[in-house]
Amino acid sequence: MSHVVIAIDGPAASGKSSVARALAHAFGFAYVNTGAMYRAATWLVLQKGVDPADANAVAATMDAARIECGLDASHESVIRLDGEDPAPHLRDPAINQHVSAVSMVPRVRELLVARQRAYHEQGNVVMEGRDIGSAVFPQTPYKFYIDASPDVRAQRRSAQGESDSIAARDSVDSSRRNSPLMIAEDAQVIDSSRLTIEGVVGEIIGRLKLKDFPMPATARLTRA
Ligand code: DC
Repeated sequence: MSHVVIAIDGPAASGKSSVARALAHAFGFAYVNTGAMYRAATWLVLQKGVDPADANAVAATMDAARIECGLDASHESVIRLDGEDPAPHLRDPAINQHVSAVSMVPRVRELLVARQRAYHEQGNVVMEGRDIGSAVFPQTPYKFYIDASPDVRAQRRSAQGESDSIAARDSVDSSRRNSPLMIAEDAQVIDSSRLTIEGVVGEIIGRLKLKDFPMPATARLTRA
C-alpha cells in the first residue's frame, strides 16, 4: 500500500466526523466522509421519486447516475450526482430517515466503495464511516472505532438541532447483511463519551505513535 489510510468507524453521532476531520487537517491528509456519499445517493433517490425501499429501483438509479467525487480546497471529500452538489440537503430529516435503506443496497455500496478506494490511490486519507476498517480497507493497520453511550449520542444530535432516530439507524446499519457497522477485529476502540474532540484526536495520535505510524512532519497537533 503506497499511501496511508486511517480508518475511523463508529455509530451515528459518536463524534467520528469531527475527529476524522481534525485529524486529517492536523496531518495534511484528505478527509473523506463516506456517510455523506450514502446520504448523497439517498438525496438522488428521493429527488427522482424512487422508493428507497425498492432495492432494484435504487440500484438502477445509481447505475444511471453520473457520480463525480473529488476534494475541495480544504482537502475534504465532495460528491456531485448528475452534475448537482447535494451538500446543502444531506442532513435533511428525509435523508436521515431513508439513508440506512439506501445504503444497504449492494450495488450502491459497490459503486461508492470503488470511489472510496480511488481516494486512496491519490494520496493519504483519513476516511470515516461504518465499514472502512472492516470492508473498504481491511488491510490498513490504522483503524479506530469511536463509540459513545446512547445517551451522549442522542444529546449530541439534538444539540445539533437535528431530527434523527439514531438508535433505529444504528440497528439497521448493524444488522444488514452487506458490510454492517461492526468493530473490526484489529480496530482500537475509543469511547468518546467523556472526551472532547481534541481529547479523542490526542488519544488516536498517541496510539498511532505506538504503532510506528509514519507521523507527518507537518502534524499540527501533538499529544502532550
Ligand atoms: O456517518 P453518517 O451518519 O452521515 O452516515 C449516514 C448513513 O450512511 C449511515 O446511517 C449508514 C450509511 N453508511 C454506510 O452504510 N457505510 C458507511 N461507510 C458510511 C455510512
